[in-house]
Amino acid sequence: MKALAAALIVVAAGAAAAALPDSRLVEEGRRVYNFRCYYCHGYSGDARTVAAAMLPVRPRAFVEFSAEEMPPLRIEMAVRHGLPGSPMKSFAGALSAREIAAVVAFVHDEFVVRRASNTRYHTPENGWPDHERYSAAFPFARGSIPLDAPEGSLGARERAGRRLFVTTCITCHDGAAVRDAGPAWERAASR
Ligand code: HEC
Ligand code: HEC
Repeated sequence: MKALAAALIVVAAGAAAAALPDSRLVEEGRRVYNFRCYYCHGYSGDARTVAAAMLPVRPRAFVEFSAEEMPPLRIEMAVRHGLPGSPMKSFAGALSAREIAAVVAFVHDEFVVRRASNTRYHTPENGWPDHERYSAAFPFARGSIPLDAPEGSLGARERAGRRLFVTTCITCHDGAAVRDAGPAWERAASR
């Protein structure tokens, strides 16, 4: 047990040393990404955006790639040269060398290596000073509770969260999960 713990520490230290990202560069890259890349690739790198749904070739979620499959060089090649015959165009003319290095470091560190579920969007800097007060609606925004969950399956807080979501959040969060097992009368009839 002790030996295992020691081995794990060595492995973790090795991984950290091998891929220690320059955090300032990564944060610069986050800004580039949130301006240039998010609308096709998603704030969370999951490609669940309205634009992605309309593209002839859909971007894949960055988290689907292993670190071996998607090394920084592959990301850099895509950003510099684009991918022929796809909506992924070259950014060589639009971004400086520093910005390219930054966005490559960000995509690699945030999505491919750390598999961070998202870039926080509702932050004070982004104009959302106290978003936590809407937390009752978060499960509906994240899709963890389907919008059409039966009334009786929800507690009072969840019902309030759903009302808030439908009135205030759905304009942007149109991808919320809906589980529809057919009209209620049909379900009743099949019983
Ligand atoms: C107009 C939409 C669009 C924008 C903007 C965009 N991409 Fe892409 N990107 C795509 C599509 C579509 C693919 C998948 C292309 C394919 O598989 O042929 C892709 C693929 C990629 C890949 C995978 C390359 C590979 O080898 O599989 C990387 C990395 C990438 N994009 C990074 C970025 C970065 C970084 C930015 C911002 C600087 C960006 N993209 C901006 C649409 C876009
Ligand atoms: C003006 C558009 C807009 C509105 C209105 C909006 N959101 Fe969001 N929200 C976003 C975007 C964009 C993201 C980032 C999406 C991603 O990660 O791909 C996001 C992300 C989130 C996340 C994931 C965590 C985070 O902070 O990034 C939660 C939870 C969330 N929103 C809840 C809500 C709730 C609850 C409401 C209503 C009170 C709401 N949102 C209203 C645009 C909006």
